[in-house]
Amino acid sequence: MDLKGKFITFEGSEGSGKSTQAALALEYLKQRNSPVMLVREPGGVKISERIRGLLLDVKNTGMGDECETLLYMAARAQMVKEALVPALGAGKIVLCDRFLDSTIAYQGFGNGVDVKFIKELGSFATKSIKPDLTILFDIETQKGLARANARKDRIEQRPLDYHNRVRQGYLTLAREHPQRIKVITVDADKEQIFKQVKTLIDAVL
Ligand SMILES: Nc1ncnc2c1ncn2[C@@H]1O[C@H](COP(=O)(O)OP(=O)(O)OP(=O)(O)O)[C@@H](O)[C@H]1O
Ligand SMILES: [Mg+2]
Repeated sequence: MDLKGKFITFEGSEGSGKSTQAALALEYLKQRNSPVMLVREPGGVKISERIRGLLLDVKNTGMGDECETLLYMAARAQMVKEALVPALGAGKIVLCDRFLDSTIAYQGFGNGVDVKFIKELGSFATKSIKPDLTILFDIETQKGLARANARKDRIEQRPLDYHNRVRQGYLTLAREHPQRIKVITVDADKEQIFKQVKTLIDAVL
Protein backbone atom coordinates (compact mmCIF):
# COMPACT_ATOMS: atom_id res chain seq x y z
CA MET A 1 0.00 0.00 0.00
CA ASP A 2 1.33 3.42 -0.87
CA LEU A 3 0.36 5.65 2.02
CA LYS A 4 1.66 9.20 2.08
CA GLY A 5 1.01 10.05 5.73
CA LYS A 6 2.99 9.33 8.86
CA PHE A 7 1.90 6.91 11.54
CA ILE A 8 3.08 7.44 15.12
CA THR A 9 2.03 5.19 18.02
CA PHE A 10 2.22 5.77 21.77
CA GLU A 11 2.85 2.68 23.88
CA GLY A 12 3.61 1.74 27.45
CA SER A 13 2.13 0.22 30.56
CA GLU A 14 -0.65 1.66 32.72
CA GLY A 15 -0.24 5.27 33.76
CA SER A 16 2.99 5.77 31.81
CA GLY A 17 1.68 8.98 30.22
CA LYS A 18 0.67 7.83 26.73
CA SER A 19 -2.58 9.78 26.58
CA THR A 20 -1.00 12.89 28.13
CA GLN A 21 1.82 12.92 25.59
CA ALA A 22 -0.43 12.05 22.63
CA ALA A 23 -2.60 15.07 23.50
CA LEU A 24 0.46 17.33 23.72
CA ALA A 25 1.70 16.00 20.36
CA LEU A 26 -1.71 16.68 18.80
CA GLU A 27 -1.61 20.30 20.02
CA TYR A 28 1.96 20.76 18.83
CA LEU A 29 1.21 19.46 15.32
CA LYS A 30 -2.03 21.48 15.06
CA GLN A 31 -0.07 24.62 15.92
CA ARG A 32 2.34 23.78 13.12
CA ASN A 33 -0.70 23.51 10.82
CA SER A 34 0.12 19.90 10.05
CA PRO A 35 -2.82 17.70 9.02
CA VAL A 36 -3.09 15.52 12.10
CA MET A 37 -5.50 13.12 13.74
CA LEU A 38 -5.48 11.33 17.11
CA VAL A 39 -7.16 7.97 17.69
CA ARG A 40 -7.13 5.62 20.65
CA GLU A 41 -7.13 1.85 20.85
CA PRO A 42 -9.17 -0.12 21.40
CA GLY A 43 -11.59 2.26 19.77
CA GLY A 44 -11.23 5.25 17.49
CA VAL A 45 -14.32 4.46 15.38
CA LYS A 46 -17.86 3.52 16.38
CA ILE A 47 -17.70 -0.27 16.05
CA SER A 48 -14.30 -0.40 17.76
CA GLU A 49 -15.50 1.78 20.65
CA ARG A 50 -18.31 -0.71 21.20
CA ILE A 51 -15.77 -3.54 21.30
CA ARG A 52 -13.75 -1.43 23.78
CA GLY A 53 -16.79 -1.43 26.06
CA LEU A 54 -16.81 -5.25 26.07
CA LEU A 55 -13.07 -5.47 26.68
CA LEU A 56 -12.86 -3.09 29.62
CA ASP A 57 -16.14 -3.92 31.37
CA VAL A 58 -15.33 -5.37 34.81
CA LYS A 59 -18.58 -7.37 34.61
CA ASN A 60 -17.07 -9.53 31.82
CA THR A 61 -15.27 -11.74 34.35
CA GLY A 62 -15.36 -14.93 32.29
CA MET A 63 -13.63 -13.63 29.16
CA GLY A 64 -10.98 -16.08 27.94
CA ASP A 65 -7.56 -15.14 26.54
CA GLU A 66 -8.59 -16.22 23.05
CA CYS A 67 -11.72 -14.07 23.01
CA GLU A 68 -9.83 -11.12 24.49
CA THR A 69 -7.06 -11.34 21.89
CA LEU A 70 -9.49 -11.63 19.00
CA LEU A 71 -11.63 -8.73 20.22
CA TYR A 72 -8.60 -6.45 20.44
CA MET A 73 -7.70 -7.49 16.89
CA ALA A 74 -11.26 -7.01 15.67
CA ALA A 75 -11.39 -3.50 17.12
CA ARG A 76 -8.02 -2.77 15.49
CA ALA A 77 -9.05 -4.13 12.08
CA GLN A 78 -12.08 -1.83 11.97
CA MET A 79 -10.08 1.22 13.09
CA VAL A 80 -7.43 0.49 10.46
CA LYS A 81 -10.03 0.19 7.71
CA GLU A 82 -12.21 3.13 8.70
CA ALA A 83 -9.71 5.62 10.09
CA LEU A 84 -6.05 4.76 9.56
CA VAL A 85 -5.99 3.79 5.88
CA PRO A 86 -8.06 6.79 4.68
CA ALA A 87 -6.10 9.25 6.83
CA LEU A 88 -2.67 7.98 5.80
CA GLY A 89 -3.86 7.87 2.19
CA ALA A 90 -4.81 11.55 2.48
CA GLY A 91 -1.32 12.36 3.76
CA LYS A 92 -2.24 12.94 7.41
CA ILE A 93 -0.12 12.37 10.46
CA VAL A 94 -1.98 9.79 12.54
CA LEU A 95 -1.23 9.63 16.26
CA CYS A 96 -2.45 6.43 17.86
CA ASP A 97 -2.76 5.89 21.63
CA ARG A 98 -1.81 2.15 21.68
CA PHE A 99 -1.59 -0.24 18.67
CA LEU A 100 -0.45 -3.81 17.87
CA ASP A 101 2.49 -3.71 20.31
CA SER A 102 -0.07 -3.43 23.13
CA THR A 103 -1.62 -6.79 22.19
CA ILE A 104 1.83 -8.40 22.02
CA ALA A 105 2.75 -6.96 25.44
CA TYR A 106 -0.58 -7.52 27.28
CA GLN A 107 -2.07 -10.64 25.70
CA GLY A 108 1.27 -12.14 24.60
CA PHE A 109 3.79 -11.42 27.34
CA GLY A 110 1.13 -10.74 29.99
CA ASN A 111 -1.34 -13.60 29.40
CA GLY A 112 0.90 -16.07 27.59
CA VAL A 113 -0.85 -16.10 24.21
CA ASP A 114 1.60 -17.21 21.50
CA VAL A 115 3.43 -14.07 20.35
CA LYS A 116 4.14 -15.42 16.87
CA PHE A 117 0.43 -16.08 16.39
CA ILE A 118 -0.46 -12.57 17.61
CA LYS A 119 1.99 -11.11 15.09
CA GLU A 120 0.34 -13.13 12.28
CA LEU A 121 -3.13 -12.04 13.35
CA GLY A 122 -1.71 -8.53 13.63
CA SER A 123 -0.59 -8.47 10.00
CA PHE A 124 -4.10 -9.49 8.97
CA ALA A 125 -5.82 -6.87 11.14
CA THR A 126 -3.47 -4.02 10.23
CA LYS A 127 -3.04 -4.84 6.51
CA SER A 128 0.64 -5.02 7.51
CA ILE A 129 0.76 -1.27 8.15
CA LYS A 130 3.60 -0.53 10.57
CA PRO A 131 4.14 2.66 12.54
CA ASP A 132 6.86 5.00 11.26
CA LEU A 133 7.63 5.68 14.91
CA THR A 134 6.56 4.08 18.17
CA ILE A 135 7.27 5.96 21.38
CA LEU A 136 7.45 3.61 24.34
CA PHE A 137 7.03 5.23 27.75
CA ASP A 138 8.76 3.10 30.35
CA ILE A 139 7.82 3.57 33.98
CA GLU A 140 8.26 1.49 37.10
CA THR A 141 5.13 -0.71 37.17
CA GLN A 142 3.87 0.29 40.61
CA LYS A 143 4.45 3.97 39.97
CA GLY A 144 2.41 3.78 36.76
CA LEU A 145 -0.43 1.85 38.37
CA ALA A 146 -0.57 4.38 41.20
CA ARG A 147 -0.94 7.17 38.64
CA ALA A 148 -3.65 5.42 36.62
CA ASN A 149 -7.33 5.74 37.49
CA ALA A 150 -8.48 4.88 41.00
CA ARG A 151 -11.44 2.99 39.49
CA LYS A 152 -9.73 0.18 37.62
CA ASP A 153 -10.97 -1.40 34.39
CA ARG A 154 -10.87 -5.16 33.62
CA ILE A 155 -7.23 -5.13 32.50
CA GLU A 156 -5.92 -2.69 35.11
CA GLN A 157 -7.34 -4.92 37.88
CA ARG A 158 -4.83 -7.66 37.10
CA PRO A 159 -2.02 -8.44 39.58
CA LEU A 160 1.34 -6.68 39.72
CA ASP A 161 3.14 -9.75 38.25
CA TYR A 162 1.00 -9.45 35.14
CA HIS A 163 1.84 -5.76 34.72
CA ASN A 164 5.54 -6.49 35.25
CA ARG A 165 5.44 -9.04 32.41
CA VAL A 166 3.75 -6.44 30.20
CA ARG A 167 6.51 -3.93 30.95
CA GLN A 168 9.24 -6.49 30.21
CA GLY A 169 7.37 -7.48 27.03
CA TYR A 170 7.46 -3.91 25.79
CA LEU A 171 11.19 -3.63 26.54
CA THR A 172 11.78 -6.88 24.64
CA LEU A 173 9.92 -5.47 21.63
CA ALA A 174 12.01 -2.30 21.82
CA ARG A 175 15.20 -4.39 21.68
CA GLU A 176 13.82 -6.30 18.67
CA HIS A 177 12.87 -3.12 16.76
CA PRO A 178 15.37 -0.42 17.74
CA GLN A 179 14.74 1.55 14.53
CA ARG A 180 11.00 1.87 15.06
CA ILE A 181 10.55 1.80 18.83
CA LYS A 182 12.15 4.59 20.87
CA VAL A 183 12.07 4.28 24.65
CA ILE A 184 11.53 7.27 26.89
CA THR A 185 12.16 6.71 30.59
CA VAL A 186 9.42 8.50 32.49
CA ASP A 187 11.36 10.25 35.22
CA ALA A 188 10.41 13.90 34.75
CA ASP A 189 7.36 16.15 34.51
CA LYS A 190 5.19 16.06 31.41
CA GLU A 191 6.73 19.15 29.79
CA GLN A 192 10.23 17.68 30.11
CA ILE A 193 9.02 14.38 28.68
CA PHE A 194 7.32 16.19 25.81
CA LYS A 195 10.63 17.80 24.79
CA GLN A 196 11.92 14.28 24.13
CA VAL A 197 8.71 13.32 22.33
CA LYS A 198 8.94 16.40 20.12
CA THR A 199 12.52 15.57 19.11
CA LEU A 200 11.46 12.05 18.07
CA ILE A 201 8.43 13.31 16.13
CA ASP A 202 10.40 16.05 14.35
CA ALA A 203 12.90 13.41 13.24
CA VAL A 204 10.27 11.36 11.33
CA LEU A 205 8.37 14.26 9.73
N1 LIG B 1 5.45 13.09 33.43
C1 LIG B 1 4.47 13.00 34.32
N2 LIG B 1 4.71 13.24 35.63
C2 LIG B 1 3.72 13.12 36.54
N3 LIG B 1 2.46 12.78 36.26
C3 LIG B 1 2.16 12.53 34.99
C4 LIG B 1 3.15 12.63 33.96
N4 LIG B 1 2.56 12.31 32.78
C5 LIG B 1 1.28 12.02 33.07
N5 LIG B 1 1.03 12.16 34.38
C6 LIG B 1 -0.24 11.90 35.08
O1 LIG B 1 -0.32 10.49 35.29
C7 LIG B 1 -1.65 10.02 35.05
C8 LIG B 1 -1.64 8.99 33.94
O2 LIG B 1 -1.29 9.60 32.71
P1 LIG B 1 -1.95 9.15 31.34
O3 LIG B 1 -3.40 9.00 31.50
O4 LIG B 1 -1.44 10.07 30.28
O5 LIG B 1 -1.27 7.72 31.18
P2 LIG B 1 -1.66 6.56 30.18
O6 LIG B 1 -0.38 5.88 29.84
O7 LIG B 1 -2.48 7.07 29.07
O8 LIG B 1 -2.52 5.63 31.15
P3 LIG B 1 -3.54 4.43 30.76
O9 LIG B 1 -2.66 3.24 30.49
O10 LIG B 1 -4.35 4.26 32.00
O11 LIG B 1 -4.33 4.88 29.57
C9 LIG B 1 -2.48 11.25 34.73
O12 LIG B 1 -3.11 11.68 35.90
C10 LIG B 1 -1.45 12.27 34.25
O13 LIG B 1 -1.86 13.60 34.50
MG1 LIG C 1 -4.38 6.48 28.41
